[in-house]
Formats: sequence, C-alpha cells, structure tokens
Amino acid sequence: MDQTTAVIDLDLPGPRISRHVYGHFAEHLGRCIYGGFYVGEDSDVPNVRGIRTDVVEALRALHIPNLRWPGGCFADDYHWRDGIGPRDRRPRMVNSHWGDVVEDNAFGTHEFMDLCELLGTDAYISGNVGSGTVAEMSEWIEYLTRADDSPMAALRRENGRDEPWKVPFFGIGNEAWGCGGNLRVEQFASLARQYSTYVRDHAGNEVYRIAAGASDDDLHWTEVLMQSFGPLDAPADAAAPATPFQGVSLHYYTMTGTWQDKGTATEFTEDEWYLALQKAGFMEHLLTRHGQVMDRYDPHRRVGLVVDEWGTWWNVEPGTNPGFLYQQNTLRDALVASVHLDAFHRHADRVVMANIAQTVNVLQAMLLTDPESGALVRTPSYHVFEMSTGHHDADSLAVHLDGVPTRATDGAELPLVSASASVKDGAALVSLSNLDAAAERTVVLDLRGREVTGHRGRVLTAPELATHNTPEAPDAVAPVELAAIRPHTRGLEVTLPAHSYATVRLDLA
Ligand code: AHR
Repeated sequence: MDQTTAVIDLDLPGPRISRHVYGHFAEHLGRCIYGGFYVGEDSDVPNVRGIRTDVVEALRALHIPNLRWPGGCFADDYHWRDGIGPRDRRPRMVNSHWGDVVEDNAFGTHEFMDLCELLGTDAYISGNVGSGTVAEMSEWIEYLTRADDSPMAALRRENGRDEPWKVPFFGIGNEAWGCGGNLRVEQFASLARQYSTYVRDHAGNEVYRIAAGASDDDLHWTEVLMQSFGPLDAPADAAAPATPFQGVSLHYYTMTGTWQDKGTATEFTEDEWYLALQKAGFMEHLLTRHGQVMDRYDPHRRVGLVVDEWGTWWNVEPGTNPGFLYQQNTLRDALVASVHLDAFHRHADRVVMANIAQTVNVLQAMLLTDPESGALVRTPSYHVFEMSTGHHDADSLAVHLDGVPTRATDGAELPLVSASASVKDGAALVSLSNLDAAAERTVVLDLRGREVTGHRGRVLTAPELATHNTPEAPDAVAPVELAAIRPHTRGLEVTLPAHSYATVRLDLA
C-alpha cells in the first residue's frame, strides 16, 4: 500500500470533544507534588507561595482544563483536615502506597486550590471512600464551596480564604476494587450512591460526581455501576433523571511487560515500540466495550465515562526510589499519547473527561524536574498535548482512513497510521500519527464540504525511537514546522516522517 487516504467531511461536525479529556493528575506520589509542583516558599527555585513558577508557566501553555488531586491510591488514605491550618501544626501521616514515606501535609487544600488558580484550571478533587467517612467528605465540599457562615465556611475563613472556591468535579473513591478498599462492585455501588448524596451543591457550585470505575476490561464493574443508577432511559427530550453521581471512571495503563517487569522507558527494541503502540490502541477497544455496556442502560448517553488514569507505566529509572514511579519519556510515549487522544476524540459522545497520569515527575509526565539542579524539562508527551490544544471543545470530525499499512504485533494487526480531526472557530485541526518505526508515510487528506483557504503543519519526531529530553538536551524532541504538505486534487498531501506525530491546521472559508 503506497498511499494512505484520509477522507474528512469538514461540513459534518460530530459530538463536541470536551476540553476535559485533556485533563491532568497530581498525586502525593514521589516527586509529583513535592519538588514537582511545590517547593515551599523558602526554596531557591523561583516560586509563588511555594508553587514553582516554571511549572505553572509551562503548564499554562497547555491550557490544562482540570487537575485531579490528591490521588490515586493516596486519596483513600487522605484526611483533608490534616492539610489545612498553619503548616507547622499539621499532623503527619505515612504515605503507605508510595515509598512508605512520611507526608507532612504541607501541600493541602488551600495550596491545591491556589495551584488551580495559578494554572487557570478546574479542580477535580478525589474523595476518600476507602478510609474516610461520609461526614468527612460532606464537610470537605462544604469547606471548599460554601459562601455563608456555615461551620465549614467559617473554618475556611479562619484559615485565610474568604471567598468559596469552585469545585466542578469530585471523585467518589479511587480504584475501589483495589487500593481504595478491595471492595466488591455491588458493595461499592451502594457506597457510591451514599457518599455522592452528601457531596452537595453549595452556593451555586454544581458538582459533577464521578464514581470510581473499572480497571481495563472489567465490564462487570461498569455494568453494576450502571445498574445502580436505576432507569436512565427517559426520552432524550425529557429532563435527565437526577442521579447520585454523574460519571463513572475507567483506568488503563500501557506497558509492554508485566506488572512485575513493565519494560524500560528508554531501552526498548523495535518490537517493543510496536507492542507499546498496540497496547495503547487497546484504549479504542475499551471505550467501545465499556461504551456498549453503558449504552444498554443509558441510551441517551447522559452518564459520562471518565478515563481519569491513563498513560505509560514503565520500570522506574535505575537508582530511583521504586515507590516514586519516576520514568523517562521518549518519542514512544508521545505516540502512545496521540493514539489515546485520537480514541478520546472518536468517542466524544461518551468520554467526557480523561486524566493522563501524572503531570510532573511521575509515570507519563508532561514535565520532569531535576532534583539536584532544579532544571525543568518538557517531555515529548508535553509537546503532543501542546500541539493538540486546538481540539479542546472543538466538534469532532470523522476521519475515514483507507490504505493504512499494518504490522503483525502481539497476535493482531497494528494499523500504522492513527488519525482524528475536529473543527472550531473557522478552522479544522487534523492529528496524524505515523507509527511506522522506519518508513515515512504519505497521507492524502481528502477534504470535502468546505473550502480550505490555508494550512499550517507541525511535526514532532526525532532521530531515534527512544530520543528523549534532558536538562542537557531539553529540545531533543520538540515540534517544528511540517514543510512536506502539498496541494492535491482532493485536498492536501502530507508526508509524515517515520515515527512522528503531526498536526495540520486548516483555515476554512
Ligand atoms: O497513578 C499511579 C497509581 O495508579 C494511582 O495511585 C492508582 O490509582 C493507580 O493504580
């Protein structure tokens, strides 16, 4: 197959791609919060009230729509009252999941909400079901969002914050099937209804509650959560039935090995390159299968699927704390990201939010910071997110691919081109990933329905599959202009270098 064709009907917009599928995740884990986001006011690293200025600046360019905190597994050990008030009087706790280190709670509710304000992002608070009480969760949302002189609003004021914050998203537990309590889904579904009931809307703050969902292809978990809603099939034009929670989550991580030996971030073979991308492509299957289960109970798609943990999970970098999950990030991670984002775009009618794990220094990070020098590095995954901001809140466009070469991988055929597109504000954005490790690929964009008056291409690639950014070579993988775009009778012809991610912006008449 010499040529790949992508047919795009520019005049047939599909469901809106929520900007929230570009969400992020910050857990009290390794150097994500401490050293990553937060260095404290006395640090030599430039900061605003302890929050790193360079990290905020880098993330602002991504327009990150929401940030999930404080976990992950940590969330079900976290008691929010330990993280408010004068820092020197905050109780300590053991972070038993992540390195068994002592957490001093220096970064708590006020610091997190301050971070959200600096980033210009929405807060996604992850509440404790595993070891917390209903009252504790209820009081946390009151503390955060209540305006009057209620007990929790008064306590917030005592701690220096007069105005309530907005908290649009609240997680009801995390991985309840595992670190969040080792519960059976039947038991958790009841708890999710109960806890959600007490996460109240105060002072005009409307909360979207997300019940801890399935891992991977555990369709039974999704099915029982969906059954727990009761009838959801009222006609599409009727008022949506009130439900205790509004979304269910899904977690899926990409690795080439096993949980015991996940594969390394930088020392991989060409076969492992393809294997990782095949595993990333499994997200498409998961969204289809979980979506089918949800459709059975919720044909009008009122309940959102929230993929609030996804990304690569490799063995930690040699010499680093195994509990800190610090890993490098190569061009391979970038393409794992672009393949996931394409799947989220295609399932925009069901996937309302997603959170890559995690933002700084943990798993598939956007940013890495050097513990000694403090230097900040933008990863290849960061650049995919930056190049894709045009998809935020855009209307999805179907991309019909033809002539895509495949490669036998892990008992299946891996398509070597991944693509998605969207339209917003008089422009379309086309994402194209060439997963071929060695060969460039020409793709004809067969553009129909609207006149294209201009275009701009950008490409992310590198000499080697494992090229990555370091403090010494921070731009080894960075986007450049894509010059190889030519007019074609059917639209445009784009040549993608081997192992590359490209975006083509189309100006529309
Ligand atoms: O992101 C790291 C961990 O992965 C999270 O704490 C947990 O929810 C998941 O197992």
